[in-house]
Amino acid sequence: GKVLVLHGPNLNLLGTRQPDIYGYETLDDVDNALREKAVLKGWELNSFQSNHEGELIDAIHAARLDGTGAIIINPAAYTHTSVAILDALNAFEGRVFEVHISNVHQRESFRHHSYVSLRADGVIAGLGTQGYQAALDALIKAADKA
Ligand code: DQA
Repeated sequence: GKVLVLHGPNLNLLGTRQPDIYGYETLDDVDNALREKAVLKGWELNSFQSNHEGELIDAIHAARLDGTGAIIINPAAYTHTSVAILDALNAFEGRVFEVHISNVHQRESFRHHSYVSLRADGVIAGLGTQGYQAALDALIKAADKA
């Protein structure tokens, strides 16, 4: 299988941005650990970060055509605002897992609502960067069972 990991705005600052909330691991650390796990299981993993809503949408569109079977997405702040990312994900036929590093439900009320959750097959929040690993494990298990 082939999985795409999408990271939304400000996640390029991971490791230096509010480390009390998001931890000290960098986005490269996260992606490298994910790729390592995926490869061990015989999966291909591509990752992409953007601070621009349209670039994330373009990446979701590309995933419809390049054999990507699943998307793990942390839409970051677009989680709470983007009908356009929801619509793009609705046009993608594979599995979608939504990941938040922090426990969004424990934070400001504007973080409690997610447009992406209307589409996501699973949602993980508050496990730190381990949440991405949990999503990948679940996704590979589900696909290998199918
Ligand atoms: C986040 C939570 C969002 O509310 C926030 O805007 C982010 C990161 C998380 O991973 O915890 O940028 O998606």
